[in-house]
Amino acid sequence: MPQILSPTPEHIQDLVDQLRVGQIVGLPTETVYGLAANAQSIEAVQKIFTAKGRPADHPLIVHIASPDSQSENNSFGDQDWLDRLAPWAREVPKCAVDLAKMFWPGPLTIILPRAKGVLDIVTGGQQTVGIRCPNHPQAQEVLHAFGGGLAIPSANRFGRISPTTAQHVKDEFQTISELLILDGGACEVGIESTIVDLTHWDSVGPVILRPGAITVEQIESCTQMKLGQQPGQAIRFSGGLSAHYAPKTSLILLDESSQSNEFNQLTGRVAWASWVTPGELHLDVNKLELTHYVFPKVPQEAAQKLYELLRTLDAQKFDFLVFPKLPQTNQWAGVRDRLARAAVGSGIDQ
Ligand code: TXA
Ligand code: MG
Repeated sequence: MPQILSPTPEHIQDLVDQLRVGQIVGLPTETVYGLAANAQSIEAVQKIFTAKGRPADHPLIVHIASPDSQSENNSFGDQDWLDRLAPWAREVPKCAVDLAKMFWPGPLTIILPRAKGVLDIVTGGQQTVGIRCPNHPQAQEVLHAFGGGLAIPSANRFGRISPTTAQHVKDEFQTISELLILDGGACEVGIESTIVDLTHWDSVGPVILRPGAITVEQIESCTQMKLGQQPGQAIRFSGGLSAHYAPKTSLILLDESSQSNEFNQLTGRVAWASWVTPGELHLDVNKLELTHYVFPKVPQEAAQKLYELLRTLDAQKFDFLVFPKLPQTNQWAGVRDRLARAAVGSGIDQ
């Protein structure tokens, strides 16, 4: 059975030792828990793909340590980030440095042209690489002690709900008996990082590939550029699949601002996470065995609770899960995106 370790200096050293001999480990980040491997070892990274059941052409994000020294005002300078990015990125435009200075360490992944030595298995054979400096004390401790980049996808089996506690990671990888998982508490952000592609910044501007806690407005205001659309063929992108983050129970999104027919067609045991009560929507719920949950009204809170709630409800074998259709605002973009994909992929027990 995988082992959950408290974050003592000895346990952090145990994790680093595992990484040095090419093993994978479970690591907390502020977004979701990840499965980490040495980004410069083909054999180590291969273990991630095997454990997750992830298709080989889906690229991984390289996670880097924050710069070693801070200036007087507690921030890092341009050169600090350029030095950190140099082993991974061939070109680093000013907008990338601006974003790093503003949001790193933090829940933002930046896509840049890859440097020469970056492994194909990490980039999925593409000419670009995703890089993130995570803002979790234990993730940073491990990165600093390890002294290199770590490839870290979310620690869930491919297509399934991402983990936000050490126990979720253990539940997900029961069969990997030697897996060590560092317990860094419940993730503060709760959904994966915003991914911004800067490889076409000079022609179309920054492009958001995956919405997250860092919003469109924040990226536009930091870079002083309008966000653009991906030119040409879409790149491979697992979070970009229409079905992802999926519970095994069927998940339905309900427009709570209208009298929805969808709800009236349901039968059996239903878990309803919502902003309103059945009475407020004048729904006929008599034929249902309905359990009502309050869905957070603040986007950051909803993000933090989302995967935990989906996992808990999924384990209770309801016939249907019902969640609200979320507002079309940038603040809700991250949670809206995850729920939409979770709904498409739901209801398949494998
Ligand atoms: O918050 C996060 O980003 C978490 C934590 C653990 O850091 N990690 C994470 O990794 O979400 P993963 O592998 O579950 O999702 C990474 C996404 C994938 O959809 C992948 O396709 C995309 O990032 N990606 C990675 N490198 C890319 C690249 N070079 N170009 C385009 N997409 C890329
Ligand atoms: Mg993932």
